[in-house]
Amino acid sequence: MKSFLLLVFLLMEGSEAPSKLKGCLNGWIEFICGYNNTNITKYHTIDVVTPRESLRSTQRDEWENKGRWFLYHDTTNQHLRVIIKPQQQEDFGKQQCQFHTDSVSTPEITELELDTEDDNCQHTTFNHTTYTTAQTTILCTDKGNRVRFFCKDNGFICEDILSTTVKSNGSFSLTDNNSGFNISISDVSSQDAGVYWCGVKPNQGNYRAALQRIQLEVQNISVIKRSSAVGQTLTYWCSYPEDAPVNKFICKGEDPYVCEQLVNILKPNMKTGKLSIEDDREERNITVTVRNLIAEDTGTYWCGAGTSDEKRRNQLFNKLLLTVAGSQLAAVTATVVRVAALVVVNILILFYTCSKIRRNRREKQKSWDRGYAEVQDPPRRPSQELQ
Ligand SMILES: *[C@@H]1O[C@H](CO)[C@@H](O)[C@H](O)[C@H]1NC(C)=O
Ligand SMILES: *[C@@H]1O[C@H](CO)[C@@H](O)[C@H](O)[C@H]1NC(C)=O
Ligand SMILES: *[C@@H]1O[C@H](CO)[C@@H](O)[C@H](O)[C@H]1NC(C)=O
Ligand SMILES: *[C@@H]1O[C@H](CO)[C@@H](O)[C@H](O)[C@H]1NC(C)=O
Ligand SMILES: *[C@@H]1O[C@H](CO)[C@@H](O)[C@H](O)[C@H]1NC(C)=O
Ligand SMILES: *[C@@H]1O[C@H](CO)[C@@H](O)[C@H](O)[C@H]1NC(C)=O
Ligand SMILES: *[C@@H]1O[C@H](CO)[C@@H](O)[C@H](O)[C@H]1NC(C)=O
Ligand SMILES: *[C@@H]1O[C@H](CO)[C@@H](O)[C@H](O)[C@H]1NC(C)=O
Repeated sequence: MKSFLLLVFLLMEGSEAPSKLKGCLNGWIEFICGYNNTNITKYHTIDVVTPRESLRSTQRDEWENKGRWFLYHDTTNQHLRVIIKPQQQEDFGKQQCQFHTDSVSTPEITELELDTEDDNCQHTTFNHTTYTTAQTTILCTDKGNRVRFFCKDNGFICEDILSTTVKSNGSFSLTDNNSGFNISISDVSSQDAGVYWCGVKPNQGNYRAALQRIQLEVQNISVIKRSSAVGQTLTYWCSYPEDAPVNKFICKGEDPYVCEQLVNILKPNMKTGKLSIEDDREERNITVTVRNLIAEDTGTYWCGAGTSDEKRRNQLFNKLLLTVAGSQLAAVTATVVRVAALVVVNILILFYTCSKIRRNRREKQKSWDRGYAEVQDPPRRPSQELQ
């Protein structure tokens, strides 16, 4: 909440009232109407007059909810913050803030013109489904080169999470370029479910507009953890609901919607060899077999079913966290075996050489004893040579 207020103040700081605003039907636009008279006690009421209705702000320094409107008379900064959620084309057009000193004299008026964004209002609301512990990416469309923001609707105002200037908070991160921006959420939890908005702060004018409303649904998924050793075969199973599509698959990756399919029951020609699945439709049970495990098989796998309907996303039934252990151990073992073998061979060679030397020496000694009796320096023994 605090960061929200802070950002807004930064955006609005020292502002003149903007004259032109742009937003989307079913989105929202936040703007301010400033007033010039420093004696705030003069303003008894503020009216916001819009094409379809007139609203009155009577409270100070607190939010007032007037249906589709939110008003906040900020006496410190001497302005009225206004949030409008246009629901009909008629909501666009001329907007006026009228600051009344009393009931008779003419009010001080700030006037604004509200227009629709041309290019960016196509997908104003969509649902996004994901699963607990998954990674997921929300795609926000916005053509242009301006400040983007992403916030979570708390049912009243939208609490800021990310913007072009704050691209990550640890679990949420934002990437953007001229064609749009993506919000990536890692390790999704059920608390992340809710309504989010993708929005922009245009370069012209001190206001901001939320363009897309995203209803994030988070489904629980069971997670299986398995450790296996290199070379082994792993078998596990996932059961699925009655209405699941027939197109069962296994894919690998953190994000279940962009993960790489490794095996698909409707595509028997898919090059796998390593993975196989069997669908027991009576029991609604898929049995998965992963053969001849290698270290690179470590990772996240999803068991799911796809639909031919483009609009419906794949359904997922469980997640496997596979660790192919023993890979390092195997490497260490192999090294140890190699070193041990080398040592044994060396010892054998040494033994052979020693015994040969000893034999030779003994024979030489015998001949010296016989032929050269005056030998002074007797040959060293092989054992000394070895030391
Ligand atoms: C405040 O003053 C500025 C310039 O002095 C003027 O443009 C603006 O319209 C005034 N605002 C109101 C609400 O009278
Ligand atoms: C502000 O306006 C009120 C009522 O009009 C008046 O009583 C008060 O003296 C004014 N204060 C200042 C600082 O001008
Ligand atoms: C989003 O889901 C809600 C129910 O959770 C549904 O009422 C609504 O029609 C869905 N919207 C879209 C655009 O699919
Ligand atoms: C990032 O923001 C979201 C939404 O406000 C919040 O749930 C999450 O805990 C934040 N992540 C971190 C690491 O603070
Ligand atoms: C957003 O994600 C989509 C799909 O993964 C990708 O095609 C697009 O390039 C991404 N855009 C940005 C700005 O990262
Ligand atoms: C936006 O970035 C994505 C990848 O991050 C890239 O595929 C896409 O072409 C980029 N679009 C533009 C207009 O630069
Ligand atoms: C998912 O699990 C959490 C706790 O593990 C629980 O609070 C929540 O109600 C579950 N949601 C659904 C839709 O089953
Ligand atoms: C699924 O099949 C496996 C064997 O293939 C079995 O062990 C498991 O109990 C079955 N699960 C269910 C829910 O039927």
